[in-house]
Amino acid sequence: MSMRIAIVRNGKELGERAFLEIKKVLAAKRDAVIGFATGNTPIPLYEKMADDHKKNGTSYKRVRAFNLDEYVGVDPNDKASFARFMRDNLFSKIDIDPANTDIPNGMADDLSAECERYAAAVKKHPADIQILGIGENGHIAFNEPYTKPEEPTHIALLTESTRAANAGAFKDPSLVPQYALTMGINEILTAKRILMLATGEKKAQAVYDMIMGRDDTSCPATALRRHPDVTVILDKEAAALLTFGEWEREAERRAAEEAADAAEAEIKDEEAEDAEK
Ligand code: GLP
Repeated sequence: MSMRIAIVRNGKELGERAFLEIKKVLAAKRDAVIGFATGNTPIPLYEKMADDHKKNGTSYKRVRAFNLDEYVGVDPNDKASFARFMRDNLFSKIDIDPANTDIPNGMADDLSAECERYAAAVKKHPADIQILGIGENGHIAFNEPYTKPEEPTHIALLTESTRAANAGAFKDPSLVPQYALTMGINEILTAKRILMLATGEKKAQAVYDMIMGRDDTSCPATALRRHPDVTVILDKEAAALLTFGEWEREAERRAAEEAADAAEAEIKDEEAEDAEK
């Protein structure tokens, strides 16, 4: 597991810290593929990107953008759609070419065919960096608990808790769609780097489960442990349950175990040598 964890004080710091990761990628590759996420959490990052574009002229002209997910049956011009969210919060404020932005089409007549199209597009252009948020139940994109990681882009049934958490963008909570199209877990892991952002006490349990909890599909975000390059940026509230002491004790226990195994192997070698004599 290679997870770097940074804890920041507020949204502004989160935006700045996260932007450093984006800048690193862009500095190395002007035509980078960036995987974007929706939700409240990445907004400070998108504000920082827009601000930096205005002030410093950082260009996204050659950047290709993919988004993680979209609701089924919500028009891309509807304010509740993720397509509209991306346009309003970022794409209209930078010089990205709209033709280079892609998001699953939740209005497609044939949703399965649309999932296949999207999976193929993502496969063809693996992300240089994927921005991620986390759901209160540990979901990433719309991969709810117990989703099979190997499922490619698919139609997901949203849980009641996810629909309730996302109700804010809709006039009435009952209008939150039951279904969404989402990139799959292993597809997300094909990104070269992952940038996971989480803020607020409501995310503390999910963040704890992602980093320290049981490694199974009950918390989809535990899949990030299998990725070689993950940066996690948290505010204090989201990091509240992480007990670094517990972590250190675990590392010490593992080191002691390895030392004991090594000593045992040495004794066995000596015994074998003695037997040969
Ligand atoms: C949504 C999205 C996720 C997002 C999560 C958290 O349902 N599908 O990609 O990470 O919920 O959203 P927020 O950042 O608003 O808490």
